[in-house]
Amino acid sequence: MKILKSEIDIGMEIERLSMKSEWRNKIIFGDCQNMGELEDSSIHLVVTSPPYFNAPFDYPDLFDSYKQFLNMIRNTAKELKRVLDEGRIAALVVDDTLIDGKKYPVVADITKVFIEEGFKYREKIIWIKPEGFIRISRRSGVILQHPYPMYYYPDNLQESILIFQNGDFDYKSISKDSKMESKIDIDEFQKEKWYLSVWQITNVLPNNNRLEKGIAAFPEEIPYRLIKLFSYKNEVVLDPFMGSGTTLKVALELDRKCVGYDIDLELLKVVKEKVGLNQATLTNDRPDFEVIIRKDSKHLRTKLQQKVKDNHNRRQ
Ligand SMILES: C[S@@+](CC[C@H](N)C(=O)[O-])C[C@H]1O[C@@H](n2cnc3c(N)ncnc32)[C@H](O)[C@@H]1O
Repeated sequence: MKILKSEIDIGMEIERLSMKSEWRNKIIFGDCQNMGELEDSSIHLVVTSPPYFNAPFDYPDLFDSYKQFLNMIRNTAKELKRVLDEGRIAALVVDDTLIDGKKYPVVADITKVFIEEGFKYREKIIWIKPEGFIRISRRSGVILQHPYPMYYYPDNLQESILIFQNGDFDYKSISKDSKMESKIDIDEFQKEKWYLSVWQITNVLPNNNRLEKGIAAFPEEIPYRLIKLFSYKNEVVLDPFMGSGTTLKVALELDRKCVGYDIDLELLKVVKEKVGLNQATLTNDRPDFEVIIRKDSKHLRTKLQQKVKDNHNRRQ
C-alpha cells in the first residue's frame, strides 16, 4: 500500500527543495575577518588578492604597522579554514611590498601564516606581466640617473599566486556527471601553457576611464584559470577581498556561484556594474543576489586616492 506523506512532511520537503534552489550569490560589505554570513565548509574555492601592505600607490598607511597587516591576514586565514570545504583550495595573489627602499616579505609571511593556521602549502605560481605594462614600479630609472653601484632597484614584473589546500580532497566525492560538465579544455591548457608554474598574463591598468580606477584589480584571466582548474560547475567561489568584483564576475560566467566581501562600501557601484546588477538603486533587484551592508564597512577609496595624490604632489 502506498503510504501518503503527512502535510508536515510535504511542507518540510518543499522548504528543503526551495532552500536548495534558492541559493543567493552574496555581495557583503564588511570586514572579512568575520565571515559570519557563511556556514562552515560551505565554500568550494577561494580566489583573492589581499590589499598590498601599505603599497604607496594603492593603500598608503592603510595599516598602522606590518604586524597589524599580518594579524588581519591571520584572522582571515582562520575564517577561510572554517568556511572552506574539506580538501578545497584558497588561491591568493600576493606580492612583497617596497616602501621607502625597504622590502616587506609579504609572500613568505602569508605562506607561513596559512601553514600555521592548518593549510597545506600546495603550489606557487609566478604571474609575469609583460614588459612595458608595468603600472607603477619604474624603479630601474634610479640607476639611469645615478649609473654607479648601489643604486640598483629592478622594475617588478611578477607577483605570486599562492595555492593552499584545506586538507586532502576526496576525488571520489565528485559524480561522473559533474566531472564531465566541468571538464578542462586540454587544447586551451596546452596552447596557453597553463601547465607551467609561470603564467604570462597582461595586467589591468587602472586608467582614469576604467571601471577599476583606483583599485588594484587583477586581470580576469587569473580567476578564469583558477576557477576552471579548482572548482566544478555550480560550486561556490568566494573572494574575501573582492575589490571591483573580478572573481565574482568570472565565477558567474563559468556557471559557478559567488560570494564577495569588501570592507570599502565605496566599491558598491563598481561591483554591481561588474557583476551585471542594476547600478541605479541600492536595493537588491535580482532574486539570485543579496547585497549585505554591515556596520563595520568603511568609506576608504576617496581618502586613499587623495593621500596618493598628496604624496605625489609632495614628491614633485
Ligand atoms: C587588491 S584589492 C582586490 C582587487 C580585486 N582582486 C579586483 O580584481 O578588483 C584588495 C581589496 O581588499 C579590500 N580590503 C582591505 N581590507 C579588508 C578587510 N579587512 N576585509 C574585506 N576587504 C578588505 C580593499 O578595500 C580592496 O578593495
